[in-house]
Amino acid sequence: MVTSNPALAQLGGYPLARLQDLAGQLRADGATLHDFSIGDPDEPTPAFIREALTGAVGPVSRYPTAAGQRELREAVAGWFARRHGVEIDPDAHVLPSAGSKEAIFHLPLAVLDPGGPKRHVVWGDPGYPVYGRGAMFAGGVSDPVTLTAEDGWRLDLTALPADRLDRACIAWVNHPHNPTGATVDVGWYRQQLAVARDHDVLFASDECYQEVWFDEPAPSALEATDGDLTGVLAFVSLSKRSGMTGYRSGAIVGDPELITRLRLLRPNIGTAPPDFVQVAATAAWSDQGHVDERRAVFAAKRAVVLPFLEEAGIEVSGSEATFYVWFRAPGGDDAAYTEALLRERIVASPGRSFGPGGTGWLRLALVPTVDGCRAAVARWREALDAGRLPGS
Ligand SMILES: Cc1ncc(COP(=O)(O)O)c(C=O)c1O
Repeated sequence: MVTSNPALAQLGGYPLARLQDLAGQLRADGATLHDFSIGDPDEPTPAFIREALTGAVGPVSRYPTAAGQRELREAVAGWFARRHGVEIDPDAHVLPSAGSKEAIFHLPLAVLDPGGPKRHVVWGDPGYPVYGRGAMFAGGVSDPVTLTAEDGWRLDLTALPADRLDRACIAWVNHPHNPTGATVDVGWYRQQLAVARDHDVLFASDECYQEVWFDEPAPSALEATDGDLTGVLAFVSLSKRSGMTGYRSGAIVGDPELITRLRLLRPNIGTAPPDFVQVAATAAWSDQGHVDERRAVFAAKRAVVLPFLEEAGIEVSGSEATFYVWFRAPGGDDAAYTEALLRERIVASPGRSFGPGGTGWLRLALVPTVDGCRAAVARWREALDAGRLPGS
């Protein structure tokens, strides 16, 4: 028998997939679902981006390069300057990626020595499972740190023992945070970055929800560097910002020495975004108007869902940014409440699917349209009134 990578046996199924299977069964039975489970909003990609893509499909097809088109790297640098006030060199500090997921997954291949003493990858639980999985497939160790409501769902490197930090090669942070929607300020980045640098840990900041903020613009970790990008990488994406999940387009931005390493590594992987996607991405990064419009749509959805949860006495935590709403499971059991909601044709994600630290909480991804959110809330309210769902 062909041997197997032991990391595969540790997967236990992609956590969100099981729930999707259950919802899929209901759909197959003809049920209409209010689906708040996957972070892939229903709003269309702006027309100018679609047109940029189709206009760039030429008669001859060529391999894209891992370094990407200079126009795209310039557009990313321009966005960092306008949005974050950070000066980025398009040649030394930027690499395009095929969305941020693959870039996150592949990062350990450039920095993790499977035979060395720094094989751990630290990340916050609940969190995006790909941080830990990338570590495992690279021959390292996933080292999740439990986050709590009391700590604002923020990973605190300053509270970790020195030996745990010394074993780590990467610390992942992710704000605005999936699944809790928690945010941080530049001061927090400064504090965490200082600890990471003290222990020679790469500070990797997953910033794919950067543009989905409501009170104050979410900062980038790069704002905390004061121009010295050593030991820091930010992972940005057009998926959520510009409604381009299917285009697979993002960028890795930061430490020039690490960017050089990734430029060496990534041609071996074959994840350079196609040239026509890069043209569409250049158009997207260069425009801010559509981002503001999308943010207003998400704000309208929040204005439907948040007051309802409050009125129902359901405790909301985090949920300051992103299109996620994170709430405590009425009755205390997130799996049971997810199932009860599913019986009402409302699909949410049990917090434990983002790691044991999410147990007792649920995530709603505000992906249905505003009208879809209203319909779901009406159904939810009716179920509560009829006593089919536990109250708070
Ligand atoms: C926290 C987080 N990081 C990264 C990603 C990957 O996004 P993409 O590959 O579409 O850029 C997601 C997707 O949902 C996410 O929630």
